[in-house]
Amino acid sequence: MIYGVFSDVHSNLEALSAVLDALTARGAGAWICGGDLVGYGPDPGACLARVRALPNLSAVAGNHDLAAIGRMGLEWFNPYAREAVLWTRERLADEDWSFLEGLPGRVDAADFTLVHGTPRNPPEEYLLSPAQFRENAPLVGAWPLIVGHSHIPLLFRFRAAAPEKVEARVLDEGEELLPRAADGGPAPVALNPGSVGQPRDQDPRAACGVYDSDRGTFQVLRVPYDIAAVQAKIRAAGLPERLAVRLQHGQ
Ligand SMILES: [Fe+2]
Repeated sequence: MIYGVFSDVHSNLEALSAVLDALTARGAGAWICGGDLVGYGPDPGACLARVRALPNLSAVAGNHDLAAIGRMGLEWFNPYAREAVLWTRERLADEDWSFLEGLPGRVDAADFTLVHGTPRNPPEEYLLSPAQFRENAPLVGAWPLIVGHSHIPLLFRFRAAAPEKVEARVLDEGEELLPRAADGGPAPVALNPGSVGQPRDQDPRAACGVYDSDRGTFQVLRVPYDIAAVQAKIRAAGLPERLAVRLQHGQ
């Protein structure tokens, strides 16, 4: 199966459309969404409609999704994020609210495990360090573990020659051969496809991934989109200026 993998859309419709087109062109027949569909951006309803319509969709709730429907407190959100969450909440239609309410915290599929942050604290903990990968590994079902939340394409895996050590690095564009266990099945690896709607790795292009579960490969794609159009919508909506400016810098 070829999965289109994406996360952290954050109500950025132009970026989402570009990513879905790119992944469709790569043959995606099923979809993995790591959460944070809303928050920050100007098009929550349109983004939710696009994602809801995807066939064979596996999706989890992110912290912004939960905050938008009042299921997570706002005390840990910075002022810009908080303002955007409250703006979003006012604009969710009933079907948007129902869809977000129905998102699970975790998906255990036959050929991947999906959470927004980490298995031990799905919506909140950022998977950023080798120690966190090691601590969360026993809580994973089927590998690979696919996460979002950090807005940076990342890979974590145990080193083949020294399994007591964890390889952790940023993923650039290009195909990765996923490690195999002795029995030929997938070995432990965690993958973050980066963010569709608000990349934070100094590359402003939208990020997403292609996971080929038959070949055992994962590839990060970077997709240009009309950033100026989204910035104009953010300003027209009265959302914080900072949320517009950061898109052009990829941070
Ligand atoms: Fe996010």
